Amino acid sequence: MVSREFLLELPKCEHHLHLEGTLEPDLLFPLAKRNNITLPEVFPKSVEELKDKYGKFRDLQDFLDYYYIGTNVLIKEQDFFDLAWAYFEKVYKQGLFHAEVFYDPQSHTSRGISLETVTKGFQRACDKALVEFGITSKLIMCLLRHIEPEECLKTIEEAAPFIEDGTISALGLDSAERPFPPNLFVECYQKAASLNENLRLTAHAGEEGPAQFVSDALDLLQVTRIDHGINSQHDDELLDRLARDRTLLTICPLSNVKLQVVKSVSELPLQKFLDKNVPFSLNSDDPAYFGGYILDNYIQVSKDFPHWDHETWGHIAKNAINGSWCNDKRKNDLL
Ligand code: ADE
Ligand code: ZN
Repeated sequence: MVSREFLLELPKCEHHLHLEGTLEPDLLFPLAKRNNITLPEVFPKSVEELKDKYGKFRDLQDFLDYYYIGTNVLIKEQDFFDLAWAYFEKVYKQGLFHAEVFYDPQSHTSRGISLETVTKGFQRACDKALVEFGITSKLIMCLLRHIEPEECLKTIEEAAPFIEDGTISALGLDSAERPFPPNLFVECYQKAASLNENLRLTAHAGEEGPAQFVSDALDLLQVTRIDHGINSQHDDELLDRLARDRTLLTICPLSNVKLQVVKSVSELPLQKFLDKNVPFSLNSDDPAYFGGYILDNYIQVSKDFPHWDHETWGHIAKNAINGSWCNDKRKNDLL
């Protein structure tokens, strides 16, 4: 098994990280106090109680119920900055060099907070991470798939200035997967893509949903990356396609265990993806909820795939760099 030091020093890129999913209990309660937010009666009352709850989720929806309550404590631009900055401070120490991070503007605009407030707070933290830590980053705006597509179109209109000026580098799609397939969002993706030809497109697919949702995201939404995508393992033709097109799957090992998608990290089809030459990266999804940031995910995978040597890990790190949306110069610096 490779050592922790080796994994720490490996240049790491994060492609699947929800900024709202970095809200640690020890920031959530102070923010609730700072903003005079009363949490629901059923919500855990202390950092310890909340951490305990985070140890076990029944499934994706059970987690999302907590996640959306948590977002309610974020109100001011400074709150969004503080949240993202706390994340960058943590992952700098874990050997992260490049971060492509999601955020869910609709979980804030639905509470009367402007998309501008959220975006500016997060972008300010990204700018500071570059200056202080040399970490490059990109913002990916996600649409919540449980929200009506017509509403999502309005969100895209609201985000248009940030898509046009490149503050938002990519569009993603998250939240409850199974009841809300990719075909519902065709118009949204077309509209967003029409605003800036450089906008990148990705979507959560094949986390709890079937391999067909992965194919549909590629065919109907024209995405060039798939978030999760582990259920692609059940469709060999799809795997060939992902390998041929160098479509990156952003795998989230600790998340998949905590949301009971798999019983243990060893069940993930990572060896199959390697054998079939399907590119993937390892990521943390919602680290405050799932018990680990980027390095913790790398370490857990190394324990569950102990036969992987330095060369295999080097190959995984290179695939992550090459699958990033940073420019070629940055890629070459990292390779
Ligand atoms: N939002 C935050 N984390 C998510 C996940 N793992 N799947 C879908 N939506 C999410
Ligand atoms: Zn996710």
